[in-house]
Amino acid sequence: MAVRDLEQLLIEQLRDLLSAEKQITKALPRMAKAASDERLRQGFEEHLAQTEGQIVRLERAFEQLGKAARAKACVAMEGLIAEAKEHLEEDMEPSVMDAALIASAQKVEHYEIASYGTARAWAEQIGQDAVARLLQETLDEETQTDEKLSRLAESLVNRRAA
Ligand SMILES: [Fe+2]
Repeated sequence: MAVRDLEQLLIEQLRDLLSAEKQITKALPRMAKAASDERLRQGFEEHLAQTEGQIVRLERAFEQLGKAARAKACVAMEGLIAEAKEHLEEDMEPSVMDAALIASAQKVEHYEIASYGTARAWAEQIGQDAVARLLQETLDEETQTDEKLSRLAESLVNRRAA
C-alpha cells in the first residue's frame, strides 16, 4: 500500500507500535523472572500492566481514525527483544544480569519514546487532537519508566560500590 499522506504514515506508525507493545507484553514476564533486585522485578511487573493499558489506548486511537486496530510486525522491537533474550541466556552474576536487564529495557523505552513522540506530532499536524492526547499519555508513561530505570541503575551501582 502506498503511503499517500501523513494520516496514512501515522496509521502505519500506530500499527508498528501496536506490534511493539504486544511483543513487550510477552517479553516482560521473562525479564521480571530474571531480575534479582526486588524493585526491578516489581518495576517490570508494573510496566506489564501499564503496557496493557497502552495497547487499549492504541486501539482507541485506531477507533478515532476509523481504522481497524491491526498490528504490523515491528522488526526493530523484534531485534531489541532478541538481544535482551541473548543476555537472558548468558551465565551472569545476578547484579550483572540486573544491569543488562535495565539496559535492554531502556533501549526498548527509547525506541517507544521516539515512536510515540513522532506519532503524537503527526496527529497534531493533521488535527487529530484526541489521538494526539492518547499518544501523549503513553509517551508520559514511557518517559517516567525510563527515568525510573535510570534511578534504579544508579542505586544498584551505588549499592555495589558500598
Ligand atoms: Fe509501551
